[in-house]
Amino acid sequence: MNQTMISWGEAELDALRSSVMAEMSPFRFTHTAAVEDMTARLCALYCPEKTMLLRAAALLHDLTKEKKAPEQEALCEQLGIALTPTDRMSPKTHHAKTAAALIPVRYPGFADDELVAAVRYHTTGRAGMTLSEKLIYLADYIDESRTFPDCVTLRTCFWGADPESMSMQERLSLLDDVIILSFDMTIRALLSEGAPISPDTVSARSSLLCDRAKRK
Ligand SMILES: [Fe+2]
Ligand SMILES: [Fe+2]
Repeated sequence: MNQTMISWGEAELDALRSSVMAEMSPFRFTHTAAVEDMTARLCALYCPEKTMLLRAAALLHDLTKEKKAPEQEALCEQLGIALTPTDRMSPKTHHAKTAAALIPVRYPGFADDELVAAVRYHTTGRAGMTLSEKLIYLADYIDESRTFPDCVTLRTCFWGADPESMSMQERLSLLDDVIILSFDMTIRALLSEGAPISPDTVSARSSLLCDRAKRK
């Protein structure tokens, strides 16, 4: 993997979209296309120069989402991804790891480090998330195809704050605030289910809380 000079344009994104569409259900593709749209909207606000890079990340983020747990575990083994006992209790997080690991194999033209990291951490987050990681994480949570109440709340919270009218500093604070809120929601839901919480999610939340405290 490497830091590529972005070498793709609309034609390559169209081809990538057709390719991922062919390997997922219509439901998953609707979500994937909606994440691409939301990513483009977020890039327009935060980093127009990363639009092509992150639209490709959006198209690839759920590449392996529809594989069932045993298939995911087999794929992890095949790709050399070590799973801790805690990881094995959270099979929904495997797809971020397997999708990230498959990009250089299946789509080497898109194997940019920043893109791959955004895919890798789109489910759990991690301490010290980059702007690209935050944008893909949030686009996945609030894309327009999502009707789950927490997603609607978060989408309203972000766009209702009118980020277009904000300074970049205020906009970046809003991004962190909304992501912290998403972690609160995710952690609360996992607690109510008695499910394990990814250490990356806990670290991601703490790291953003520290950043917010430093800004005050
Ligand atoms: Fe996902
Ligand atoms: Fe997704």
